[in-house]
Amino acid sequence: MTERLKYPANARVTMEPLTIKDQFKKFGIKALLGFQTVMVFGIGRKLGIFDYLYTKATKQCSEPESIADVSFSPGEIASGLGLDPYYIDGWLHMAIECGIFERDAQAPGMLKTAPHLFHLLVNRDHPFYIGNNLAGFYMVCGYQDNLVNGFKTGQFGKWDDLPRDLRLEANKMSASLGRRVIDVFEKHCREQHKVLRKGGRVLEIGCGFGVNLENWAGKYVNARFDGIDIDHDSIVAAGERFGARSKWGDRVAVAEMDAPSFAKNHRDSYDIIIVNQVLHEIPRESERRAVLDAAHSMLKAGGIAVVGEEVVPSILENPGKNVLFEVMHKWFEVILGSRFYSDAGFRALVDSTTFGSQKELVQEGGVYFWKLVRR
Ligand SMILES: C[S@@+](CC[C@H](N)C(=O)[O-])C[C@H]1O[C@@H](n2cnc3c(N)ncnc32)[C@H](O)[C@@H]1O
Repeated sequence: MTERLKYPANARVTMEPLTIKDQFKKFGIKALLGFQTVMVFGIGRKLGIFDYLYTKATKQCSEPESIADVSFSPGEIASGLGLDPYYIDGWLHMAIECGIFERDAQAPGMLKTAPHLFHLLVNRDHPFYIGNNLAGFYMVCGYQDNLVNGFKTGQFGKWDDLPRDLRLEANKMSASLGRRVIDVFEKHCREQHKVLRKGGRVLEIGCGFGVNLENWAGKYVNARFDGIDIDHDSIVAAGERFGARSKWGDRVAVAEMDAPSFAKNHRDSYDIIIVNQVLHEIPRESERRAVLDAAHSMLKAGGIAVVGEEVVPSILENPGKNVLFEVMHKWFEVILGSRFYSDAGFRALVDSTTFGSQKELVQEGGVYFWKLVRR
């Protein structure tokens, strides 16, 4: 039996002081490596290197889940993608320093993905895939002037003023969060899950390019889906994704419209309404309320809204848990004048809508969503 150490109540535990060397390691080495990792990944993704490795690995093994790593030669990357071999040597060198690749001890002259890196950075279907988040932050580096301007003036740009490629990356980031929400929904909303397994109707408000909508439609193959968004470019892209000749047939439809206008012709129509990472981006509180009221009116009695929104405590409040991803999201959207809510703040917002008290934070580990019920 292990004996528990007991300290007298007034005992002082002496901690080693943090040395300047420790801080140097954190800010001089770890910070630089982190920054380089984001840069190397972002550039590699743009060059198609991660897609190349995904295709190579899945050609060799049809079950991506069971792939441990993918091995390749530097020359193969350059010739396979038509890239300059000398410069690619530099990219690979940095990627090794960042810990993305390592030298393949079994095959001289070859490199391979480091342990677990295939799933973290290459296999976009894996629950731990972090590539969309890294790519999103990589993209934002190019728009620092907008951030600086935002801090100086308090003004913000509109979502659709941002370049299309940044909007698409941001959508992929939201959809990564949305994907994990689907698993929590399945586990904690059994009744609604059963409805969607058999059929049912779903609306996504703010579906953007349709990445999140596609994940839901792929999961619930008997349900019918509608998606709306006010961003013209993203609805055109979503229209192509779900077009008549796509595998979705007439099961998924999208329209360029805001929620209150769409609600006029869709009262009591939906079993589930998804609002994934949209609400905080709407600049005015009155408009956010209008979107939730519209959602309420479009739900059937007993239907639920699945609202993916980060809970971000105030800066002076000790969160009591790790909020790195939430804070990253808040800081990322200085460009848009987004408003993030604390737990109490979001509850107050819902109280002021037709959903009133019918709300619950559904949570599983670090993944959560707000479940709003139409009674
Ligand atoms: C971060 S994206 C999320 C896209 C999608 N829900 C996902 O998870 O991939 C936010 C989207 O909300 C849309 N949006 C913002 N305000 C809206 C409104 N009032 N009505 C409909 N869509 C809106 C934006 O145009 C943008 O496409």
